[in-house]
Amino acid sequence: MISEEQKIEQPLDPKMIGLRPGLEGVPVAHSAICEIDGTKGELRYRGYPINELATQSSFLETTYLLIWGDLPSPQQLKDFEQEVQMHRRVSFRVRDMMKCFPATGHPMDALQSSAASLGLFYSRRAIDNPQYVYDAVVRLIAKIPTMVAAFQLIRKGQDPIQPRDDLAYSANFLYMLTEREPDPLSARIFDRCLILHAEHSLNASTFSARVTASTLTDPYAVVASAVGTLAGPLHGGANEDVIKMLKEIGRPEKASSYLDKAIANKQKIMGFGHREYRVKDPRASILQDLAEELFARFGKDEMYDVAKTLEKEAEGRLGQKGIYPNVDFYSGLVYQKLGIPRDLFTPIFAISRVAGWLAHWREQLGANRIFRPSQIYTGAKSRKWMQADERMSP
Ligand code: SDX
Repeated sequence: MISEEQKIEQPLDPKMIGLRPGLEGVPVAHSAICEIDGTKGELRYRGYPINELATQSSFLETTYLLIWGDLPSPQQLKDFEQEVQMHRRVSFRVRDMMKCFPATGHPMDALQSSAASLGLFYSRRAIDNPQYVYDAVVRLIAKIPTMVAAFQLIRKGQDPIQPRDDLAYSANFLYMLTEREPDPLSARIFDRCLILHAEHSLNASTFSARVTASTLTDPYAVVASAVGTLAGPLHGGANEDVIKMLKEIGRPEKASSYLDKAIANKQKIMGFGHREYRVKDPRASILQDLAEELFARFGKDEMYDVAKTLEKEAEGRLGQKGIYPNVDFYSGLVYQKLGIPRDLFTPIFAISRVAGWLAHWREQLGANRIFRPSQIYTGAKSRKWMQADERMSP
């Protein structure tokens, strides 16, 4: 319990004191990794349009592009894929540690802890050594999916299964998760989802990664801090809430009244809105197509009609404010059709976003200065110390 007196003071009007809440519109870094045109609804990684990458590239090739700046040559890609494949396994110590996690805990919390634990195993910190950087990138890209899949089996009371060397990155993850080799369409669609989520400029988790990186700590701490940031419902965690919301709405004809009530109560519609986009997020459009591709093969998800109606109804009510579906709106429907449990949607976002976080880690180290912004102090100026027995009880 805190007393009235101890409550945090109401902030002053930000406009009056030059504060930019949420750092809206404040550039904090130069970056050559990703470009967003929020008015046209365009997104490019290192100059390549997202749609082209999602149809032509693979997640590992896109990862290479993001982190090292150019598309790999066939040999570079082959080497990178092989290195990642060789490092997929995680130590039995990490698996044993994960067995001590509560089975009821959220997989994002399990991932944050296990990602941070890698720093204990690879404790030599040589961030100015290119080989150390390459090895750390390979390890994180390789091991994060294994840890997500391991926790899924551990919490069901099973032993994690080992990666399969004959399976490519995405197929292997789905195999470790479900203990079944996925069909090629599911594996390819999953891989495309990873490409779509891999990078998105200075979003909250990437900013978190860059702040952590700016202290020159190790890359495992960088990724762990970003995982913690991604977990929140205003960021990556929204994909889970979208499915909850669609279930709550239940039927397409209820979408309109749901929206009216939510807007009247100033409640956010999950999976809608974006700081950068004033139109529909291009990734949402591609994810919607991927969902339709899956539905055509495996049957429609009944929630899809609810989602489409909600999008249509929301356009008339929120469109004039530039609020449209974001990346989290349709991704859950894709993952659900792939048989992935709802609380793994955000860890899957993390598997993919590790690529972007590591690209920003490298970029930050290339021109580093520790992040240390200032504040506008609004607390008491000077107070007289009182002994405990002199203080008023609440
Ligand atoms: C991701 O930045 C990234 O790149 C993130 C991401 C990535 O790839 O990393 O794209 C991934 O995090 C997607 C966002 C997932 N979150 C949600 O879907 C949660 C619901 N959306 C929001 O809460 C919101 O839109 C944010 C968090 C995404 C953006 O927040 P902002 O920019 O701080 O906007 P705001 O909350 O200040 O809202 C501005 C106005 C307000 O209206 P007014 O008070 O000015 O009248 O827009 C309204 C808001 O009420 N608004 C919404 C809304 N989002 C904004 N109204 C209804 N529903 C919404 N979803």
